[in-house]
Amino acid sequence: MKKTELHLHLEGAAPPSFIRAIAAEKRVDLTGVFDARGHYAYDDFPGFLKVYEAATSVLKTPRDYARLLAEVLERSAEEGVIYTELFVSPEFCGGADLSAWRDYLGAMTEVSQQMKGNGIESRAIVTAIRHLGPDRARKSAICAAETAGDWITGFGMGGAETVGKATDFTWSFDCAGEAGLGLTCHAGEWGGPESVREAIALGCTRIGHGVRAIEDQDLVRDIVERDILLEVCPGSNIALGLFPDWASHPISRLADAGVRLCVSTDDPPFFHTSLRHEYERLASAFGWGEEEFRKFNQWAVESSFCDNETQQRLR
Ligand code: ADE
Ligand code: ZN
Repeated sequence: MKKTELHLHLEGAAPPSFIRAIAAEKRVDLTGVFDARGHYAYDDFPGFLKVYEAATSVLKTPRDYARLLAEVLERSAEEGVIYTELFVSPEFCGGADLSAWRDYLGAMTEVSQQMKGNGIESRAIVTAIRHLGPDRARKSAICAAETAGDWITGFGMGGAETVGKATDFTWSFDCAGEAGLGLTCHAGEWGGPESVREAIALGCTRIGHGVRAIEDQDLVRDIVERDILLEVCPGSNIALGLFPDWASHPISRLADAGVRLCVSTDDPPFFHTSLRHEYERLASAFGWGEEEFRKFNQWAVESSFCDNETQQRLR
């Protein structure tokens, strides 16, 4: 099946072998980042964020990011993905400085063009990091707004959801929205229904995760009425301990309530998953098959942050 993926962090998709190779080239010490088996080592979400940032710190140049993007898109293509949207943080690409960001972006855009020839199309969502606060987010929003267009088609926010309120970031989301970018925000992962409401108040048409909306049926109805799409990453939620297993994940209850959703991997090597693996686990947990997965992919295309012509081609 041809697949569309809307929630994939470029840095979080870096395989350990890739990070180790770059670290060796640059002689960076990564003590504490990997366990004895060579997997990313973390126990909980704060630990995950720490290791994520430490691993990403080895990527220091536009060329490093170009190499990473090529590796990640190749892997996605092998999973049957024909269109993907990647979260990329200017904070990691030269400290959210606009001039540095343009250099990183130039290198990545070239790779995305080349990879079209391998059957995979991509767009990027500039991503602010919530726990760094609203002032730092503004710098990322400016990077996004100033480079909106060809490859950059969205703006979003990840990081520690329980720090502050999403609405503290209104300026950044308005700035990106006025530049014509699609808006999405991580919410309803570590925060409850109120956190999802705040993300909706920012003008988001998609919510990253959003699964804890299930705790409030009024909110679920509101999401349905507004045609908001949830970017659901069940393997990520289970690996991070949000739900104990696949059977208890709320994705099927959300789908039954009429919520539009799609399936994504978030940070696949961190969670020992792949898009195929997610589909397989959902198929065995809920008896889902081609009909359900086609519908999720169609919703993903309809809510994607690309132009109508590209959407038509992907249908
Ligand atoms: N950044 C990368 N993965 C994330 C997640 N699951 N939640 C919040 N921020 C993230
Ligand atoms: Zn995410």
